[in-house]
Amino acid sequence: MKILVTGGAGYIGSHTCVELINAGYEVVIADNFLNSCPVVLDRIKELTGRDFGFYECDLRDRAPLDKIFAEHKIDAVIHFAGLKAVGESVEKPLEYYDNNLGCTLTLCEAMRAANCKRLVFSSSATVYGMNNPSPLREDMPIGGTTNPYGTTKYMIELILRDLYASDNTWSIALLRYFNPIGAHKSGRIGENPNGIPNNLMPYITQVAVGKLPYINVFGNDYDTPDGTGVRDYIHVVDLALGHLKAVEKIMSGTGIDAYNLGTGKGYSVLEMIRSLEKASGKKLNYKIMGRRPGDLASCYSDPSKALRELGWRAERGLEEMCEDSWRWQSMNPEGY
Ligand code: NAD
Ligand code: UD1
Repeated sequence: MKILVTGGAGYIGSHTCVELINAGYEVVIADNFLNSCPVVLDRIKELTGRDFGFYECDLRDRAPLDKIFAEHKIDAVIHFAGLKAVGESVEKPLEYYDNNLGCTLTLCEAMRAANCKRLVFSSSATVYGMNNPSPLREDMPIGGTTNPYGTTKYMIELILRDLYASDNTWSIALLRYFNPIGAHKSGRIGENPNGIPNNLMPYITQVAVGKLPYINVFGNDYDTPDGTGVRDYIHVVDLALGHLKAVEKIMSGTGIDAYNLGTGKGYSVLEMIRSLEKASGKKLNYKIMGRRPGDLASCYSDPSKALRELGWRAERGLEEMCEDSWRWQSMNPEGY
């Protein structure tokens, strides 16, 4: 079976490609390296010992997509490609709407023309907005997003539901990721943020490796056990394996469904710092700062639907997530 992976050179895409190839799938990657680099492809080859198709293209361009579908019999598409930085999306809304919606619309048009109607889409817990209490369940209302990035994910979910309503021969899984961290056990692939990280875990590991002086803890007056923000961190390899289960699901029938991919367990910022201190053997400095605008106190999943309907659950615990994040960061202090 052959899978087209858009954004396959990125953080989650590269881990998913490794798991797909190891499970015997043929993989074709399409990426324009907007937020990744070509060396990732060599590392995927090194880790799997297998080759795969690669097309350097912008997913908003239709011609390369038609070429991919003409040159390969693609059974299903996993669509990771998109921009993902919340703060940047506030400054550059047009670029975010153009890229994230543009990629998805062009991809779906090319899929329809090639009669390939099986799609796994990278959505986000951010679609639950500010008004739902955790644990978040797939049947809760979505929307009320607070930034253009989140709104693109919400809009794409609506677009894909309209697409299915217009033609119920499509089979679509909307995967709502919680907070992916960690890296492949080898330390050869991992998250490679540009500049100063926005997300907590890469920031902590950059402090541990000595690139940044201390961690800014955004608020310690939330209604949480220690006052700091609580999130549902999930190992990126567990997340990758969730995609394999979603592919099996969309191959088995038609329909559209959303699934939370999380562990169901929340950890606070201070717990994350302590856990990375343990993994790295380093003392980490932090300062308590004001709250970050738009942040929630707690955000964690009810992951039971994915277990029930996909037969998937996260297996890797916090200690393993931190050990693997640290191995990647310490082996690659400057990234790729
Ligand atoms: P990433 O930036 O590492 O990977 C995205 C990849 O898409 C990159 O390789 C980039 O070069 C490529 N890309 C972007 N625009 C493109 C275009 N126009 N044409 C071709 N390629 C393009 O991000 P990631 O963390 O691996 O996230 C993958 C997906 O999962 C994204 O859609 C993201 O929004 C979503 N997601 C990520 C998180 C997270 O915390 N990492 C959480 C929820 C959802
Ligand atoms: C962020 C995005 C969300 C996206 C998710 C996964 C925002 C408002 N939301 O969510 O849309 O889906 O990443 O990519 O950016 N923290 C610190 N110091 C830091 C960084 C973070 O204390 O330097 C805290 C935050 O306040 C939060 C927790 O750590 O409580 C996790 O933050 P982060 O990693 O940015 O993820 P989210 O806020 O869940």
